[in-house]
Amino acid sequence: MAKLADLRDDIKKVEADLGAQLEAIDDPSSLEAFRVEFLGRKGRISALLKQLGAVEPAERAQAGQWLNDLKDRSASAFSARETELRRRAMDDRLAKERADVTLPGVYRPYGHAHPLSKVQEEIESIFMRMGFDVATGPEIETEYYNFEALNIPADHPARADWDTFYITDSTLLRPHTSPVQIRVMERSTPPVRIICPGRCYRRDAQDATHSPVFHQIELLWVEEGLSLANLKFVLELFTKEYFGPGYEMRFSGDFFPFTEPSVQVHIKAPGASHWLEIMGAGMVDPAVLTAVGYDPERITGFAFGLGIERMAMLKYGIDDIRTFLTNDLRFVHQL
Ligand code: PHE
Repeated sequence: MAKLADLRDDIKKVEADLGAQLEAIDDPSSLEAFRVEFLGRKGRISALLKQLGAVEPAERAQAGQWLNDLKDRSASAFSARETELRRRAMDDRLAKERADVTLPGVYRPYGHAHPLSKVQEEIESIFMRMGFDVATGPEIETEYYNFEALNIPADHPARADWDTFYITDSTLLRPHTSPVQIRVMERSTPPVRIICPGRCYRRDAQDATHSPVFHQIELLWVEEGLSLANLKFVLELFTKEYFGPGYEMRFSGDFFPFTEPSVQVHIKAPGASHWLEIMGAGMVDPAVLTAVGYDPERITGFAFGLGIERMAMLKYGIDDIRTFLTNDLRFVHQL
C-alpha cells in the first residue's frame, strides 16, 4: 500500500519541478514539451493519479483531493504561462512592425504631360468652352488635301511657301493643319466649328525659332453670315483667356491662298512697346468652300492657324524652340 505521506512528498516534488520549469519557459515549443511531461496522458500527474488506487481506502479521499488540487493548479499555471507567452509574442511583433513616422517618405517619381501637351490642352479647352469640337487628320497627307483643295494648284508659286517633305510624288508630310479643314468640311454640313491640333513638318533648318517638326492648331468656323468681326471677337476672347486681360490686338494684311482677305494677327501685352505676331488668319476663300461642295454665296467662314510652340514660347518666355524636343528634364518639369 502506498503511504499517504509518500504520495504527498511526490506531489510536492512534482509541483516544485513544475513551477521551476514553467518559470523558465519562454517559447511555444518548450511549452508544449512541458505540457506533455506534466499534463499529458502519460505525464507525471497522470502517473501520480494512477497511484490513487494503491492508497488506503480511508486515506483515498484526502489523496484524491490533493491530486485534484495539483491538477487544477498545474492546468491554470500552464494556461497563465501560455497566455503570457502569447502576449509577449504579440508585443514583440507590434514593436517590430511599428511605423516610424519620422522616417522620410519613399519618393515615387511619376510622369506628367509635356509642356507642349499642356499648352495644347489649355488652348483646346478654351475653344471647347466656346463650342468648338476637336478634329484631327493624318500627318501623311495627299497633295489634294494639302494644296489643291486649299486653292493652291500644282505649279502655283505659293507652294514654295511650305517647304514640304515629299514621300511620293503625291503624298507628303503635312506642313500645316489646314488640310484637316477640308477633310472635315467634306463630311459635314454647316455649321462647322472645329479646332484641329496636330504635328506638322517643314524642311526648315533648325534654329531658335524653326524646327522641322512642330505643332499647330487650326480653327475653322463656317456657317451663314460670319464676317471678319466674328473672327476678331473669337480671337479677342481667346487672347484674354490664354494670355490674360489687357492685351491689345490688331490685324495687318497678309496673303494665304485659302483665305480672302487674309490677315496676320498681332497682340501687345499691357504696357509693352512692341507687337507680337501670333498667327495667320482670314475669311475662308470661296474657292475652298466650292471645293468641298458648299455654296460660297450663302456660306462664309473664317480660319486661323497658330503654332503651339510659339504660343508656349510667348506665354512662358522660352526663347529657343529646340528646348521642346531635347527632353532636358529640368525644362520639361518646370511648366
Ligand atoms: N495654314 C497656314 C500656315 O500654316 C496658317 C493659316 C491657317 C492661315 C488658316 C490662315 C487660315 O501657314
